Amino acid sequence: MQTAANTAATNIAPPEKLTIHPAWVRLTHWINAVAMLMMVGSGWEIYNASPLFPFVFPKTITLDGWLAGALLWHFAAMWVLAVNGLVYVALGLATGRFRRKLLPIRPAEILGDLRAALARRLAHDDLAVYNAVQKALYLGVILAGIIIVASGLAIWKPVQLKALTALLGGYDAARFVHFFAMAAIVLFLIVHVVMAFLVPKSLWAMIRGR
Ligand code: HEM
Ligand code: HEM
Repeated sequence: MQTAANTAATNIAPPEKLTIHPAWVRLTHWINAVAMLMMVGSGWEIYNASPLFPFVFPKTITLDGWLAGALLWHFAAMWVLAVNGLVYVALGLATGRFRRKLLPIRPAEILGDLRAALARRLAHDDLAVYNAVQKALYLGVILAGIIIVASGLAIWKPVQLKALTALLGGYDAARFVHFFAMAAIVLFLIVHVVMAFLVPKSLWAMIRGR
C-alpha cells in the first residue's frame, strides 16, 4: 500500500535515498533489544530461585548466576526498558507511524500472507511496507511489552500498586502473567531474528535507516 507520505517522498527523492526507519526508531529499537536480553536473562535467574513450573533454566543462559545479582540487573535494566519503550510508543503514536505502518490489520490478510510466507512466495521488495504477518507480530509484541511492564510493576510494588495487582488477579496470577508475557516475547524474538537474517537487507535498514 502506498501512503500519501510515501508518494510525496517518492516524487522528490530517488528510492535508494528514502529513509525506511527514522533515527528514533533505530535507536529505540536497538536500546530495547539490549534491555530485553538483560531482562530475559536476569528474569530466568529470578525464576530459578522459585520456579513456577517443574523446570529451571540452565545457568549458562541466565544472567549473573545468582539471585541477588539477577535482581540488581532486572531492577536496573527495567528503567532503560520502560523509559525507552515509552519514548518509542509516544513517538509511534504522535508521528502516526503506528497508524501508517501497523494498521489496518485484517485476519484474512494475515492468513494469506502467512501461507505465502511458508511457501516462500512472499515478496520483500518494499521494506517500507510491512506485510500483514509483520503487522500482527509487531503490534502483538508491543502489546506484550505493555503487559510485561504492567505485570512487572504489579509484582514489584504489590502494596503501593494494589489496584494494578488486583486487576491482574492478585500477586500469584500476576507472576504467571509476567512469565507468559516473557514466553511470548522470547518466541517472537526467535522468529524475528531468524527472519532478519533470512532477509539481510531488512537488518541493514534497521541499522543504517535505508
Ligand atoms: C518494568 C519492567 C519490569 C519490572 C518492574 C519487572 C519486575 C519483576 C519482579 C518484581 C520480578 C519478581 C521478583 C520476585 O519474584 O521476587 C520479576 C520476575 C521476572 N521477570 Fe520481570 N520485570 C519487568 C520486565 C521484565 C521483562 C521485559 C522480562 C522479559 C522479557 C521479564 C522477565 C521476568 C521473569 C522471567 C521473571 C521470573 C518470573 C517468576 O518466576 O516470577 N521482566 N520481574
Ligand atoms: C537482537 C535482536 C533483534 C534483531 C536482529 C532485530 C531486527 C529487526 C529488524 C531487521 C527489523 C526491521 C524488520 C522489518 O523490516 O520488518 C526490526 C523491526 C522491529 N523489531 Fe526487531 N530485532 C531484534 C530485537 C527485537 C526485540 C527484542 C523486539 C521487541 C521485543 C523487537 C521488536 C521490533 C519491532 C516492534 C519492530 C518494528 C519497528 C517499527 O517499524 O516501528 N526487535 N527488528
